[in-house]
Amino acid sequence: MIPTLAWTPEGVRFIDQTRLPLEESYVLAANYEQVADVIVTMVVRGAPAIGVSAAYGVALGALRTKAKTTEEFAPEFERVCARLAGTRPTAVNLFWAIDRMKRVFANLQVAGATLAQVLEKLLAEAHAMYEEDIAACKTMGAYGGALLPQEGGVLTHCNAGALATCGYGTALGVIRSAVEQGKKIHVFADETRPFLQGARLTAWELMADGIGTTVICDNMAASLMKAGRIQAVVVGSDRIAANGDVANKIGTYNVAILAKEHGIPFYVAAPWSTVDMATATGEEIPIEERPHVEVTHHGGKQMTPNGVGICNPAFDVTPAKYVTAIVTERGVLRAPYADSLKQMDLAG
Ligand code: MRU
Repeated sequence: MIPTLAWTPEGVRFIDQTRLPLEESYVLAANYEQVADVIVTMVVRGAPAIGVSAAYGVALGALRTKAKTTEEFAPEFERVCARLAGTRPTAVNLFWAIDRMKRVFANLQVAGATLAQVLEKLLAEAHAMYEEDIAACKTMGAYGGALLPQEGGVLTHCNAGALATCGYGTALGVIRSAVEQGKKIHVFADETRPFLQGARLTAWELMADGIGTTVICDNMAASLMKAGRIQAVVVGSDRIAANGDVANKIGTYNVAILAKEHGIPFYVAAPWSTVDMATATGEEIPIEERPHVEVTHHGGKQMTPNGVGICNPAFDVTPAKYVTAIVTERGVLRAPYADSLKQMDLAG
């Protein structure tokens, strides 16, 4: 299994996703500030992985504190949570995970728990999220795998794989499951400019699994669809609004429009922790603007003239009308999403 992140006695160990695929190296985050740094610098990225990383970051905050009592630790706990919540704004899994940790801490405070008990329970909660994430990926993989054709090309954008989760992946979990079901799937991975998660990470992890993969530049998808080489699209998500609008890596919206034009199903696979019922529509989803150097430079080399205008939104929002189905560990949702999401939310 690909070791995206792991708790160790020294801290949280991350595979360094900025160095893949050419170098498989690891970064140890020994305290919560270092966890925040690895999230900001994208050593770890992908909505579910960010959420669980932040949960471990909170646990590290409790492990490293110099406070002597739970009461003394309480204001520091708030600072730890605020620092981790301030790392990346779009993936709701980050806030979902921190809220879960806050609820655990609040209950322990009420119960008069010792600091040792707080640490134990916070760590147990982070471990639970880690295990739940893998289980959710496997379950949604089975649901989504059944939707893919018996044979054909499947396009994916960015990396919604084992590297973006605690293992198995969301969109890539769907593909892995389809392959495990005996389907003959060939993956087309959009390179995903500017950070190249598709070219570097999706290609790397699918090749490790022996799943046939072709990397294409982002501007090649329409042509391949027209040529009949793509039978389905499956992507992950960073936040799904209550009306079914889907935030995901910049360029996902383009792919969704292309899929609709060519009559190709466009599937979104995400754990329920990505669903944000408190956000009514995609209009309200905050979109992260990343450093401009990611666009101006490529492989350390400047590609654009000095002083030119640059924009680098890391995500876009695909309107619900382009989404054929949303695959979660709770089941497969269809339009109208405002109704199906609400029903599934109430069913728990
Ligand atoms: O900027 P990133 O690499 O964190 O963006 C990741 C994505 O957009 C993924 O598709 C999304 O988080 C889903 S991961 C299962």
